[in-house]
Amino acid sequence: MDRSLNIVVGVTGGIAAYKTVQVVRDLVLAGHAVRVIATDAALQFVGAPTWEAISRQPLNTSIFDDVSSVRHVGLGQQADVVVIAPATANTIAKVAAGIADDLLGTTVLASRAPLVVAPAMHTEMWQHPATVANVDTLRSRGVIIVGPDSGRLTGPDVGLGRMSEPDAIVTAVLAAAGAGAADAGAETGARGPRDDLAGRRVLVTAGGTREPIDPVRYVGNHSSGKQGVAFAVAAAARGADVTVIAAHLDAGPAADLDAAGLRTIEVTTAADLARAVEKEAAAASVVVMAAAVADYTPAEVAERKIKKSARGEVMQLALTRTPDVLGALLADPVPGRVVVGFAAETAADRNELLVLAQEKIARKPADLLVANAVGAGRGFGADDNEALVLAASGDVVAEVSGSKRAVADAVLDLVVELLSP
Ligand code: CTP
Repeated sequence: MDRSLNIVVGVTGGIAAYKTVQVVRDLVLAGHAVRVIATDAALQFVGAPTWEAISRQPLNTSIFDDVSSVRHVGLGQQADVVVIAPATANTIAKVAAGIADDLLGTTVLASRAPLVVAPAMHTEMWQHPATVANVDTLRSRGVIIVGPDSGRLTGPDVGLGRMSEPDAIVTAVLAAAGAGAADAGAETGARGPRDDLAGRRVLVTAGGTREPIDPVRYVGNHSSGKQGVAFAVAAAARGADVTVIAAHLDAGPAADLDAAGLRTIEVTTAADLARAVEKEAAAASVVVMAAAVADYTPAEVAERKIKKSARGEVMQLALTRTPDVLGALLADPVPGRVVVGFAAETAADRNELLVLAQEKIARKPADLLVANAVGAGRGFGADDNEALVLAASGDVVAEVSGSKRAVADAVLDLVVELLSP
């Protein structure tokens, strides 16, 4: 860590405030100046003496304390990074709306520094459309959302909504401030293998596109979306701010994605997916192109259901090429962005798979290409996967197998190596 940061830690009224004590402690021990702002509700959970002792600074609670130093804006103006942990549904709604009726609200509005938000609430509140929309608003403004995690909640219930662990929050805060995740780990000992994507935006495409033929039929493929959703969930568990562009998903992966509460854009056709990727990829530091994108789409979509009586015994369907989304991303590279492509091939053995994968990466030089064999009960819809991972050079850098989540984590390990300075 080469410089001491001014960090504002906003604490709002959730029981997870006790975990934020550890966040403040780790940041202080790493040599940063931490100013805690606690809302009235936060003080119901952890009192002022704890915050003052741990931060080694006076606690800030009211707009009307120390008015002569214009503290209601000063704390925000001086901050290198602002973090709200825990962030209740109420606080997230207030920040999304720009409400400034307390010291934390004025500080957030007065700050130009990166804002990291660690939500904590019950699953129902996290999944309520109001909260989903508010979190989307924050994300669209570049706010980094860490968690929430799944697990035991305050009552007997279990689910999504637990505040992320302190080490994940510390890493996200330091990464957001530009201190770098590796520095964060070295100084605080906080960086674990599972938070190495903290502060990174990861875009994942998942599922199979469907190209309409007429109002009732489509050209599609057997992709279940399991591997793409596994990538999205794995990246989020490692601290990433994840956006999923979801084409058609089977019910299982769709439910997994829903439960994860990740920002999701639903698409149907290859053209929809291409537009969504074009819009979202600019802000991403990692793009995982796991979707099975149709290579061809019907040249014409019939407005009314096509009748057998009009087509006879043989029906011909003219198809035209779709945009190559991965190809377009690679043709317009962004320095530092890591792009992962996929190759699902009907290969008889490892050698044939390798040859086909090498041909593909030579044509589409992704940073990594995950190649797996499909057909005859392999690949699509299965819970497990087995893949060769190639670098842009065409060399095999890993052979991965296991659950689709394990495969995702193994590939993300390689992504993290490519992202590191
Ligand atoms: N892909 C894409 N846009 C398309 C088709 C595919 O972005 N229109 C992406 C997929 O998401 C995948 C990779 O390209 O990451 C490989 O897709 P695939 O269709 O297997 O490869 P192609 O290059 O189209 O080659 P071929 O069909 O000849 O195997």
